[in-house]
Amino acid sequence: MPAPRAIAVCAARRILYLPAVRMRIGSIPVDPPVILAPMAAVTDLPFRTVAEEHGVGLTITEFLSAHALSIGDPKSHGKLTASLNGRRFGVQIFGREEDALAHAAQIALAIGASLVDINMGCPAKRVVAGECGSALMREPLIAQRLVKAVVGALPPEVPVTVKHRAGWDQGHRNAPEFACAMVEAGARMITVHGRTRTQGFAGQADLEIIRLVRAAVPTHIPVVGNGDVVDVAGYVRMRETTGCDAVMIGRGAQGNPWLFARIAAVAAGRPDPGPPTLEERREVFRRHVALIGELKRGPRVLHEVRKACAWYARGLYGCNKLRLEVWSAPDTEAAVASAEAYFASLIERRTSLGLAPEADRTEMNGAAVDEAA
Ligand SMILES: Cc1cc2nc3c(=O)[nH]c(=O)nc-3n(C[C@H](O)[C@H](O)[C@H](O)COP(=O)(O)O)c2cc1C
Repeated sequence: MPAPRAIAVCAARRILYLPAVRMRIGSIPVDPPVILAPMAAVTDLPFRTVAEEHGVGLTITEFLSAHALSIGDPKSHGKLTASLNGRRFGVQIFGREEDALAHAAQIALAIGASLVDINMGCPAKRVVAGECGSALMREPLIAQRLVKAVVGALPPEVPVTVKHRAGWDQGHRNAPEFACAMVEAGARMITVHGRTRTQGFAGQADLEIIRLVRAAVPTHIPVVGNGDVVDVAGYVRMRETTGCDAVMIGRGAQGNPWLFARIAAVAAGRPDPGPPTLEERREVFRRHVALIGELKRGPRVLHEVRKACAWYARGLYGCNKLRLEVWSAPDTEAAVASAEAYFASLIERRTSLGLAPEADRTEMNGAAVDEAA
């Protein structure tokens, strides 16, 4: 697939003109070309659903241990969830046993996954200690064997894709060669997070290494740029600077699914609809909490609801006070009541100041991250 060369931004109306090339992974269209990043303990089914309802091109589950899936571990199977209403989704797996990865890929296929992504970028100590995740960037031959095993376990119409980092450390930034090796082994999409393993989440994602990967990989294989995109301008910058075919967004989408709708509009040549009003934030907050109630069980529910309260208030007046309040709330009802009272007070404040709803459209581009895998 040719990379978009002719991107032009009309600054005045914030319209992005793209060539009429639709991003495809194998035969799977990704439209708009923006993907929700897999994030452990974050991209659960409620969050993926909210992102889908705001027009994201594709969602991928959080990474799941191939070994755990293959031995029937209930916790991992509980996280292996198909998107609602038959929407396309990908499943991400990690490991270094060919048989387990092949088996896990078939399990993903059985629940309807459209693609299987192999994690070769996770920097977490427990993952790297098992020579999985980003550790595989130091062993391209083994990584190739794993890709081949998964490709061999799936029908040809189900693409196998790989997500990796810039390299292991500053002295070993082998992403372009590594990506080519993965493609040679059968990977049909490469996602690059522009940081090394040793960087973790520090510093900034390097767009130049993503550009080099795009230049190195055959043009019919899409390359997805990832790292630090938190707003429409960041999406445009990532595509223009690197020539990548699509952008993957993680932290910037937390509590901000509007980012996908805005990118969808801009990518289709329409004006950016801008950030949400208070009423829109409250509506999606309610939707997210309802999905948690429908789809989750057990002690995680309270944690997830507290998180949703904090996410949707992010950047608004008094949001820190709300966050402390919901974090000490004894149950979900109390947490939701605090968030409802908070939104009601902000709307009342706006009315008393005689302001229009438009006045509350606040950018949400501070990526609030408290966990990292
Ligand atoms: C809490 C958290 C969990 C993550 N879990 C995963 C994961 O399961 N699989 C994966 O490939 N990357 C994972 N990542 C990395 C993200 O997918 C992404 O590469 C990274 O956050 C950079 O993108 P961003 O700046 O848009 O967030 C995780 C990141 C965070 C913050």
